[in-house]
Amino acid sequence: MTLAEAKQKLAQYGQEHVLKYYEELDAAGREALLAQIAETDMSVLASCKHREELVKKGEITPLAAMELDEINANRKSFTSTGLDAIHDGKVGAVLLAGGMGTRLGSDNPKCMYNVGINRELYIFECLVNNMMDVVAQSGSWFHLFVMTSEKNNDTTIKFMQEKEYFGYNPEFVHFFKQEMAAATDYEGKIYLEEKGRLATSPNGNGGWFISMKNAWLLDLVKKEGIEWINVFAVDNVLQRIADPCFVGATIQRNCDVGAKVVRKNAPDEKVGVMCLEDGRPSIVEYYDLTRELMDAKDEKGNPAYNFGVILNYLFRVSALEQLLDGNLPLHIVEKKIPCLNENGELVKPQEPNGYKYESLVLDMIHQMDSCLPYEVERNREFAPIKNKTGIDSVESARALLQENGVEL
Ligand code: UTP
Repeated sequence: MTLAEAKQKLAQYGQEHVLKYYEELDAAGREALLAQIAETDMSVLASCKHREELVKKGEITPLAAMELDEINANRKSFTSTGLDAIHDGKVGAVLLAGGMGTRLGSDNPKCMYNVGINRELYIFECLVNNMMDVVAQSGSWFHLFVMTSEKNNDTTIKFMQEKEYFGYNPEFVHFFKQEMAAATDYEGKIYLEEKGRLATSPNGNGGWFISMKNAWLLDLVKKEGIEWINVFAVDNVLQRIADPCFVGATIQRNCDVGAKVVRKNAPDEKVGVMCLEDGRPSIVEYYDLTRELMDAKDEKGNPAYNFGVILNYLFRVSALEQLLDGNLPLHIVEKKIPCLNENGELVKPQEPNGYKYESLVLDMIHQMDSCLPYEVERNREFAPIKNKTGIDSVESARALLQENGVEL
């Protein structure tokens, strides 16, 4: 892209200010900035002016979960179906590790966080240990695809190589990078993170399947005959991955996606809950859950919207393939964005200072024809690390790990 073309594009979207330092850049710096301007989608940024209209919900009705009693009554059969699928290579897993973990505030990727107290125990290690249980049970390795971003890819790969994949078979581990999106101030103006670089952030966890395709990994999925993909977040250290009983239940119920859920601990707990939206499976975010929905009861007299998602989904690959061209809704999220100040100095804000533009994996559920919400015991499978202290923190996760017999 030439400078003239860049100016034209920037004028169209009111972003001319990003050329403020253009004259100061050397030839390579100028070329890089023009290339970044060419590839950045600026059409979405104006949406920040009407954020609330973006994610409009349809009619919400309850979607019953498969509860623990039913799971326990069928555990043997589900587990056997799941183990067969894993043993036959039909199950793969995708670790979503492209996030910035701004709330935790560590400079390293979240997977490198050491949750140990008297010994080293990294988040990635906890996840691999949990995967190894399934490897032992099924007698076979399963493929793990790790989504990183441009910001943390090299550090994550180097860390895993140094740690020798914590004992996992490296032939079954594949890294791929997600796409980036521009980050802006509250008026939708793109921040600069360097004099010759627009501020960018990973484009949310909803792009994982497209990014896998762009990295040619869907060819491997096909070649290996992987029919189910278990997508999970990096930060839940009690996460069960490719859980045979969950896999078997989703297969036996013939659903396009299974979603692990936990019983909410209060009607207003801040988790997204499973529901139907206009008759299709969906997740309603806690901030969209009205008092009326919170208090609604099902036919047994139990709260009708009582199961929260924990970002552990099992997708049927053939259902995902039909979605490849379907756009997910855009979420505009307030975040802390490192950027140049008026004087051209880099600042790392302590408070949110603008917006990131993301698509979310939870919106993929609404695009599936059928979904099995599958209850798991909260204290056994849900120990998310979002913050340093308090709720969903290193502290709370450590306590839960210890409760589950993990030595720290
Ligand atoms: P979070 O919503 O907790 O976001 O991600 P985050 O960026 O990790 O953390 P904060 O909000 O800045 O503190 C949930 C999961 O989705 C992944 C994260 O790595 C985590 O596993 N994720 C998030 C991505 O892979 N890509 C993204 O763009 C965003």
